[in-house]
Amino acid sequence: MATDFTEEGAADAVIESFAGTPDERLRTILNSLVRHLHAAVREVEPSLAEWEQAIEFLTATGQKCTDVRQEFILLSDVLGISMLVETISERGAAGATQSTVLGPFHMTSSPERELGANIDLVGESQPCVVIGRVVGTDGSPLPGATLDVWQANDHGAYDVQEPDKQPDGNGRGLFTTDAEGRFWFRTIVPSYYPIPTDGPVGELLAATRRHPYRPAHIHFIVAADGYRTLTTHIFVDDSEYIDSDAVFAVKKSLITEFVEVDEPEQAARYQVSNPFRLADVQIALSKD
Ligand code: BEZ
Ligand code: FE
Repeated sequence: MATDFTEEGAADAVIESFAGTPDERLRTILNSLVRHLHAAVREVEPSLAEWEQAIEFLTATGQKCTDVRQEFILLSDVLGISMLVETISERGAAGATQSTVLGPFHMTSSPERELGANIDLVGESQPCVVIGRVVGTDGSPLPGATLDVWQANDHGAYDVQEPDKQPDGNGRGLFTTDAEGRFWFRTIVPSYYPIPTDGPVGELLAATRRHPYRPAHIHFIVAADGYRTLTTHIFVDDSEYIDSDAVFAVKKSLITEFVEVDEPEQAARYQVSNPFRLADVQIALSKD
C-alpha cells in the first residue's frame, strides 16, 4: 500500500530505495549523504526560492568548469573538504611529512631539471635556494626520489595564469635526488596570492566576507619506489595569511624558515648573489 511522504520518514524512505545497490561502498556513501542532507534541510527549512538559489549556485559552479578551471574543487577547497579528505588519507603514514592540497595549478608537466637548476626563469628578484633531503620514516636516505616542484612568482601568479608575461615552465621543475637523497634548486620566494575569485566560489567568499588569499608556499609531489607518493607544500614562515589560509591547508609542521643569508662563501656555493634566502627541508616518505 502506498505511504504518504512525511518530513520524518523521508530520509528512511530514500535510504530504503537504495537497499538493492550491489556495490556496498556506494550504498554506504548514498545512505550517509541522504541522512546528512535531509538533516540539513530539516534544520535550515529553506524556502523554495532559497532552494532554487542553491541549485543555481551549483549549476553556475559546474558551468564555470573548463579543461583548465575546476570550480567544484575550489568549492571543496574553501569548504575545507579537500583538506579533510587529504588529512584522513594520510592517517596510515605515521612519521611521514604531512600532506596538503594539490591545488589547481599542477596542470602542466614540470620540466626535468638538473639539481641546482634555477626554476625562476625571469631573474628579477632576490634569489632563494631550497636544499633538502628525501628520507624514509626511519631516516634512511632515498636516492632517485623525484620531486615535482611548482610555485607562484613574487607577484603571486603561476606561469599558466600569465602565459603572455611568464615563460612556460617558470617556477616549475622535476628533480631527482642524488645518491644521499639530497636535492637543491634555486628559485625566488613566492608571494601569497588569491585563489580565483571570478566565479561562484568568489561570490561565496564575498557574500561571507572571507578573503581569498593563500599564504606563500612552494608545492611538492615527492615520489620514490616502494613509498607512498606525497603531495605537500612548504609554507614561507613570515608570509601574510599564514594563520588564515582560504583553503585551510596550513599545517604547522610545513611552515619553513626562509633564512636571510649574506655570506660570500654560501653565495658562491649556491651560485647566487647576496643577500639571498635559504630554506632547508627534510621530506620523509612512508612505505607503500
Ligand atoms: C594552490 O595552492 O595552488 C591552490 C590550492 C587550492 C585552491 C587554489 C589554489
Ligand atoms: Fe599554490
